[in-house]
Amino acid sequence: MRKAVCPGSFDPVTNGHLDVFVRAAEIFDEVTVGVLINKTKSSMFTVDERIEMLREVVKPYPNVVVDAFHGLLVDYCNDHGIPAIVKGLRAVSDFDYELQMAQMNYRLAKVETLFVSTNPLYSYLSSSLVKEVATYGGDVTGLVPDTVLDRLQDRVKQKRDG
Ligand code: PNS
Repeated sequence: MRKAVCPGSFDPVTNGHLDVFVRAAEIFDEVTVGVLINKTKSSMFTVDERIEMLREVVKPYPNVVVDAFHGLLVDYCNDHGIPAIVKGLRAVSDFDYELQMAQMNYRLAKVETLFVSTNPLYSYLSSSLVKEVATYGGDVTGLVPDTVLDRLQDRVKQKRDG
């Protein structure tokens, strides 16, 4: 079985991420969306909330599963028999860091990284920009799945109302 992981923080998942999962799922037999547990980074949604949203949005794709990991991604890959990482490349600005990580992951454990070119519709999209725009009342409809949009609006309202 050909397996791959799409790792990230997914705080929250965007339509750009979803596009990458779906395209990876067309090539691999099983794709794991790996949510990094990073206690040092502040987030809008807890890991459990992020996993719940991810599970809702990948429900139509039976070969996409969601899991959390901490520590090195290559250790997770080795423990789960996953030889490949799939990531989206939005622009040249992503390239330097992504290449560094890809080379390090290969050096550490011979885990390959494959890049898919992000759909141009989403090339400017990031979770942090979505959060910022939503926080200041901007419309992010169409940039995140509808279920995420509802939760995002609730969270922004919750934060604003204290
Ligand atoms: O969505 P993000 O926060 O840009 O995702 C970054 C992520 C999770 C892919 C990256 O930070 C990662 O793989 N972290 C796990 C720790 C690790 O393996 N670090 C060494 C990378 S070479």
